[in-house]
Amino acid sequence: MIELPIVTQPSEATTYAAEPQGEETATQERRLYIETYGCQMNVNDSEIVKGILRRYGFRPTDKIDQADVIFLNTCSVRENAERKIFERLRHLRHFKRKKEDLVIGILGCMAERLRKDLVQKEPIVDLVVGPDEYRKLPTLVQAAQQGEKGIAVKLSRVETYDDIEPLRTEGISAWISIMRGCDKFCTFCVVPFTRGRERSRPLRSIVAEVQRLWDQGFKEVTLLGQNVNSYRCPDTQQDFADLLAAVARAVPAMRIRYTTSHPKDMSDKLIETMAAYDNICKYIHLPVQSGSDRILALMNRTYTAEQYLERIEKIRSIIPHCTLSTDIIAGFPTETEEDHQATLELMKQVRYDGAYMFKYSPRERTKAWKMGDDVPEEVKLRRLQEIIELQNAISYEKNQELIGSVEEILVEGPSKRNPEEWQGRTDGNKVTIFPYDQNLQPGDRIYVRIVRATSATLFGERVDQPH
Ligand code: 5AD
Ligand code: SF4
Repeated sequence: MIELPIVTQPSEATTYAAEPQGEETATQERRLYIETYGCQMNVNDSEIVKGILRRYGFRPTDKIDQADVIFLNTCSVRENAERKIFERLRHLRHFKRKKEDLVIGILGCMAERLRKDLVQKEPIVDLVVGPDEYRKLPTLVQAAQQGEKGIAVKLSRVETYDDIEPLRTEGISAWISIMRGCDKFCTFCVVPFTRGRERSRPLRSIVAEVQRLWDQGFKEVTLLGQNVNSYRCPDTQQDFADLLAAVARAVPAMRIRYTTSHPKDMSDKLIETMAAYDNICKYIHLPVQSGSDRILALMNRTYTAEQYLERIEKIRSIIPHCTLSTDIIAGFPTETEEDHQATLELMKQVRYDGAYMFKYSPRERTKAWKMGDDVPEEVKLRRLQEIIELQNAISYEKNQELIGSVEEILVEGPSKRNPEEWQGRTDGNKVTIFPYDQNLQPGDRIYVRIVRATSATLFGERVDQPH
């Protein structure tokens, strides 16, 4: 087993495997298959990994049985996410038996968290590579093909892969990481341990990437980070609102989204910037986690329910029809029935359009881990169920309110259920289904009058005018 020397500076990339040239690349083509789990950051990281390995003759494939290298890009945020990976590894055993020199690698947060244990526990794993070490993949894969196992899990204070062109699947919507890591240390969250300290990419290079994406035919970008509103340009100190404005101005027809925000850093300037540009989507994902001040303090979220609600009011006063979504955790340590009721109460007050709702999952190394996991499983499940039911009812009601209105839709393509119908999204990020018409192309912007709605989907008919 090799543990590579610790390299944290991207500029040291020259110490890695030599880049094959011309002919050599063509004859040595190898196939890379990546499965991505977890958040959107991982989706973009997988594209970065493909971008790094492309230079070494690796071509992406979506056929796992043809792959020379299989990577699982993993998530550690809840135990369930890790359980899925162990199950997946069991399925991969027979590929390894069939093809002796197949390389299997675990990337991402689980690699960072479990390190050596992963190789010891799962003999079919050849490589364990954390989120800041992807530049080493060419060297590590080469060594693994010669039978040497590899682990690279050093976290970096500077790595942003700023110079790597992610290899994206064709489409109309692209993800762009603008910053990496998180310094918030919410007490339940493993991310600061698996993704390290916060660091941002230079504003100019992000704007240039968005411009290139527009030239390549993308119509929508989502600026990504664990906590985008702590963004700070390392060269000019410009903040996230400055970045959003710069991107919006540079590519005025591109739809611009971002995620995720921390309520503490949701500044007036940012809300005003969103309001000032038509091409910045009026949609904010603002995780609240709990409606109880006592639990919020234990979570180290650094705001109270009242302060959170004040931000929501501010958003609604500046952007009246802003779509809002959130994250909520049920059953955090010591959570009482009263705390749980406070969460339901806050949900009723805000009336989110949507929510990602989770059962608390204790994670080693976090502060909450030491608080114990004292809410019984059945209580956690019941509370989660109540949260989900309430949210579904609110989402349903909010979507009914849209019936009769005309929404601008960015057309994505055939709907998943019925190819006779197509789907797209509203500015507020709501999936909308409409009848297929032969003049439609993915990437078109059309107007759709909403005629029917469920809690998750809008249904409508194409119209010519916005009103
Ligand atoms: N248990 C349950 N949910 C968690 N999240 C993060 N850590 C945990 C955990 N230990 C949720 C939070 C966060 C989202 C990405 O995942 O709600 O906002
Ligand atoms: Fe985790 Fe909190 Fe950072 Fe989000 S802000 S990644 S929940 S520590």
